[in-house]
Amino acid sequence: MWQWRVFVVHLRHNLSRSFVHMDIFSQLSAPINFLIKSDFNVESFEVEWQFSRENSHGDFSTPSPLKLSKMVNKLPMEVAEDMCNALKEEEIIEKCEVAAPGFVNVWLKPRVLLSSLNEAKKYCSPQKKRKDPPVIVEYSQPNIAKPLGIHHILSTVIGQAIANTYEHLGYECKKVNHLGDWGTQFGKLAVALDRWSNKSVKDSSIDELLALYVKFHEEAEKDESLNEKAREYFRKLEEGDKKIFEFWKDTVDVSMKAILKLYDRLNVTIEHQHGEAMYRDAMGPILEEGKEKGVFMEGKEGAVVVEFSEELNIPTAVVQKGDSATIYLTRDLAQIQYRTERWHPKGIYYVVDRAQQLHFQQLFETVKMLGWDLPHLEHLIFGRMKFADKSMSTRKGNILKLEEVLDEAVNRAEKIIKEHGDSIQSDNPKDLAEMMGVGSVVYGVLTKNRKMDMVFDWDKFLSFEGNSAPYIQYTHARACSVLRKADASEKITFPLNIDFLEENERNLIKTLLKFSNSLSDSCNAHMPHLLTNYLFSLCQDYNTFYNDLPIVKADEPLRSLRISLTALTASVIKTGANILTLRIPNRM
Ligand code: ARG
Repeated sequence: MWQWRVFVVHLRHNLSRSFVHMDIFSQLSAPINFLIKSDFNVESFEVEWQFSRENSHGDFSTPSPLKLSKMVNKLPMEVAEDMCNALKEEEIIEKCEVAAPGFVNVWLKPRVLLSSLNEAKKYCSPQKKRKDPPVIVEYSQPNIAKPLGIHHILSTVIGQAIANTYEHLGYECKKVNHLGDWGTQFGKLAVALDRWSNKSVKDSSIDELLALYVKFHEEAEKDESLNEKAREYFRKLEEGDKKIFEFWKDTVDVSMKAILKLYDRLNVTIEHQHGEAMYRDAMGPILEEGKEKGVFMEGKEGAVVVEFSEELNIPTAVVQKGDSATIYLTRDLAQIQYRTERWHPKGIYYVVDRAQQLHFQQLFETVKMLGWDLPHLEHLIFGRMKFADKSMSTRKGNILKLEEVLDEAVNRAEKIIKEHGDSIQSDNPKDLAEMMGVGSVVYGVLTKNRKMDMVFDWDKFLSFEGNSAPYIQYTHARACSVLRKADASEKITFPLNIDFLEENERNLIKTLLKFSNSLSDSCNAHMPHLLTNYLFSLCQDYNTFYNDLPIVKADEPLRSLRISLTALTASVIKTGANILTLRIPNRM
């Protein structure tokens, strides 16, 4: 008789197939694999395991009978029954059930769940360094000579969270800024300073520089020659004019001081502050190379341009203006060349506004056409920020300053702390208000899927109930307070002589087991909100557990079990929060 013999290509080993659970999953798969080979005669098949969403569906479940049934010409429920019978023989299984239309649900013995938590604990420390080439994450990238605006928080904290996740998982990650410190705006500022200021740049504040820039635009509307003058100044700067260069350097210094102060407040650490200006000598040779290779051509009015193949449907891009001034795109070409040669990275990720999609398309296509040896290049987009509070979007003046928003957040947090005088306790209410205020803005941004537009909403950001910084911070402080009461050390050791788990305990354990998955999912997709969602569900599970079960007053071995669960929860919250730049109190 004709025999079924099916070869299935193994799924590419993907990071998101968790690290920790490989162990449990492979233990669960072993008896099934045996069955598949010996009884079903299928040579190779990868059994898929998932965390069950509901307790009534077990700890883990597999939908594999559905797929397998087609290969072996049996009903899915029959295959599920066979699998279930094979699993029931296993030492680690507490219970196994089939569910329509073809699932197998398994419950593990408490001791097995608990010992896998010891594995999960490992993810509270940074993972062993990998040997792979580095990844580069470029983020923040403010334009200099203006204070940071609230919108800068998006790239800044999303990028930092992505970089932190890579580093935590053992990747070497180069954290790079691409400061907008070159371009015609410096010509404009130089003109404005000449005409309307009696101070040197060094003695000006960043706000005064902004005011000059705004004045330039007002005046240039009436007097077009100002723009011409600004272009001339910038040209001189590119040609190396000493005086204008000094002015430029001072502007960068004044700006960087203000920017670094805010980074510090945001828990943002960008190691490589690379301004666009850094590439000023590299652009000439690239322009030559492009012309030689026939990639760059003469465009209108003496400009140099790139044209893309028709099917790409991308408009022509300019790489050099008619007056020989270089532009943003040219500096990006140089940036790719520099980073590739210096670091030989595996990938470069750009955390930049969705509005620049076309720019990055043009950039990536151009470097391909130049035939360079390239790493993976990807634009990680994010959406717009909108404001629930109308006064924030309709504010006079050009920008809503990040510093002011953070100050306002801290003021609001201070008020909330005062209002909750009896339930919030802190040794240092000022520090707590800073953590809560800044944290609520940062965490508020990170809870949203970055690709969508987001709404800045004071009430939600500062609430103690939803997926907010104060909720996460409060839960951590609560867990720490349990540990203080129990006089427990930081050491987490689970008693293994437990043969029954309450539903709330099992839930919490399962969520703790998901920690490594949420890290790898968030890392693979470059989506920090997957980690914030995870922390939120962990906090919810911990709070339910805390409200329903005695911890410090429970009898042994339950007391040790629950204290260890509390300690592990605190540790996971702290680790996750840290990756997300969120500072977290031990007492609150
Ligand atoms: N400074 C630019 C801006 O504010 C963003 C830079 C993005 N990064 C890049 N490599 N082009 O629009």
